[in-house]
This record gives sequence, structure tokens and C-alpha cells, in this order.
Amino acid sequence: MKKPIPITKPTLESYDAYAPMFRKILKSGRLTLGPYGEEFEKKTAKYLGVKHCVAVSSCTAGLMLVMQGLELTGEVIVPSFTFLASAHAILWSGLTPVFADIDPKTFTVDPRSVEKLITKKTTAILAVHVFGVPANIDALTKIAKKHKLKLIFDAAHAFGAEYKGKKIGNFGDAEVFSLSPIKLLTAVEGGLVATNNDALAAMVRRGRNYGDDGTNNAPIAGLSARLSEFHAAVGLRSFAMFPANLKNRRVKAAYLINALKKLEPRLEFQFIPKDVTTTYYILSTRIDKALLGYSRDELHDFLKQAGILTRKYFYPPIHRQAPYKKYVRSGGVLPVTNEVTDSVLALPLFSHITKKELDAVIAGFRSFLKGRKPLTRAKK
Ligand SMILES: Cc1ncc(COP(=O)(O)O)c(C=O)c1O
Repeated sequence: MKKPIPITKPTLESYDAYAPMFRKILKSGRLTLGPYGEEFEKKTAKYLGVKHCVAVSSCTAGLMLVMQGLELTGEVIVPSFTFLASAHAILWSGLTPVFADIDPKTFTVDPRSVEKLITKKTTAILAVHVFGVPANIDALTKIAKKHKLKLIFDAAHAFGAEYKGKKIGNFGDAEVFSLSPIKLLTAVEGGLVATNNDALAAMVRRGRNYGDDGTNNAPIAGLSARLSEFHAAVGLRSFAMFPANLKNRRVKAAYLINALKKLEPRLEFQFIPKDVTTTYYILSTRIDKALLGYSRDELHDFLKQAGILTRKYFYPPIHRQAPYKKYVRSGGVLPVTNEVTDSVLALPLFSHITKKELDAVIAGFRSFLKGRKPLTRAKK
């Protein structure tokens, strides 16, 4: 059997590209919080146009450090349609997640749902730039200001995305990126806290190193969440490739979207508002049975048999997973989240995916539709 086409893959170089830096690190004996980490922070901050980028060991740890730095208490409003880590960071910070619904087209948090959930205990909003598509930042900023709430963005998917001409990384109190293996910008593992707030940046810097500010007399109980020099070195190589990788994704996503839309004009991809750009971290479509006559699961299973791996993502949403069921507010049924999670399907896309692989995805889709012709023209 042929090797299946994966949904995603890290885009890396050969070992020789990394070796000189690894050798230098080993020779210096400076394995963490060293010059490569500093260079990585400076370069990424300059690219984003933000005052501070603080490198940490993961986006999850970065979110926790931001929540500690902002001295949050009580409830944090977060979408349920996100990766588990968004909610885990809230829970591990001793805070209560309150789940908001999403927009059915962009899949990002619905500001109207957020505003309805605000109580006296609400301390912050944690919005997510889902699959690289920026959330409705203006509306969320307005709500946060009006109710005196902190605003944090889980930007795990969104390094390189823009909102109204400005790079993601500049909004809210802080935005936190992930550098895990399959992200467009990767350091193998890692995260970046981007903020224009000097005091918060200093808190995160201290917090990633146990809370120690160099005096051995920690003012806060921090984490062990540094980015090692080896990770920073990989991050620097990845950063050098980043503009080309982002461009490639966009070209390849457009190719796949156009071809699939020709086959099935009613196919709905994640909507990208006019005034934003996405990273295409995930290329996501909705397979709505009422509209198309076939279900997401049928398509997923068919493509799997044909050696094309897709992913039901995010499915199930967080509020339906064990640790979080008890946090669902009475009446908080999240109808749009439930609808989207049952119909969403992520398609194969990575920066170095080949035309041959993309054409195989298109061919797989075509043969699925052929077998289902009577159904595809079914009910509207
Ligand atoms: C939306 C979102 N938030 C947070 C994370 C966690 O990132 P990390 O693995 O860097 O902690 C991820 C991981 O992909 C994610 O998708």
C-alpha cells in the first residue's frame, strides 16, 4: 500500500543546517537563556512590530505566565471550539473557564456570546485566532474596555497573520504563539509571548525562570518554562524560512480551494474576512449534510481508505470533554459550536506539500463525489 498523504508535516532542513549552531552551543556551555534565545526574541519582535517577544517552552506555559502576570482571578471567557490547551491553561492557573459560542463562518469566538457571559467574577477574555484566522479583535477590544477585562489572544496558529494591516502579536494585553513541530514557525517545541506591556513582559521573563529575578528571592511562584538554546537555534532557522513557507501555504491553499470548489461549488471553507490575512495553519472546510447530502464522517472515512488523511478538528469541542463538562453553564448549549464541530474537516496542507500530493487529494475528493452523485444534488 502507498504511504498515505498526511494532514500535516513539519517543514525542516537537513541536519547540516543546524549542526554549526548546535556545535557552538555545546562548545559555549550556555544551554538555555543564551544568545540564540535573545536573537530569536529580537528578530521575531521586529517582524511582528511588537515591543517584546518572550520565548518560553510552550504556548500553554506562555498563556499560564500571562495569566499570572496579569494577576487574574475568577472566570475567564474562552471559546469551546479550540484546542484543549487554551482551557487547560485557564484551569492550571486556578481560574474558571466559561465557554462562549463561535461564529459559524470564521469559527472564531462570537463577541455577542462573550458579552452575554460576563459576570462580576469575569476577569479576562481569552480569544483564539482559530486555524490562523484572526478573531474579531475590534469587537472584543471594545467589550474588554467596556467591562474592564483583560484581553489575551491564544495565537498558537497565527504567527504571520494580520488584522487590518497589523501583525497578530500587537493586540490585547498579550498574544501567545506556539512553536510546536507542525507550526509554520517552529522551534521543535516552544512558545512566544508577544506584548507591548513592559511590566507584563518582565513578569513573564521572570516567571519562565521559576519567578527568580536574579536575587534568589522570588517575588512570584513561576514555572520552569525556558526555551533552550537548541530550540532557539531551530527557531532561528525556521524563522529564516518563514516568509517563503507562509507564501507557499497561501499559494497551495488557494490551489486546493479553487480545485475543490470547482468539483463541489457548495463546499464552504473557513471564511476569511476581507480585512484580515490567515496563515492557513489548518485548511478547514465544513461538510454540512443538510446542504451537501453527505456527512463529514463519510467523507473522512472514504478519504482515509483512499490514503488521504483528514482530521475532525476541533472535535469534540472542549465543553464536551471530561475535565470541562462541569463548567458548562446551564443554558449554555453552544449551538453553533456543536454544529461546526460535527461538520468541520481539516484537509492535508503543509508548507512543502507537493502538487502531486495536492492533486491526489483532489482526485480522492472527485472519486468520493462520483460515488455519491445522486446525493450531492440532494436537499438544500
Ligand atoms: C489553539 C492552541 N492553543 C494552544 C496550543 C498549545 O501549544 P503548545 O503545544 O505550544 O503548548 C495549541 C497547540 O497546537 C493550539 O492549537
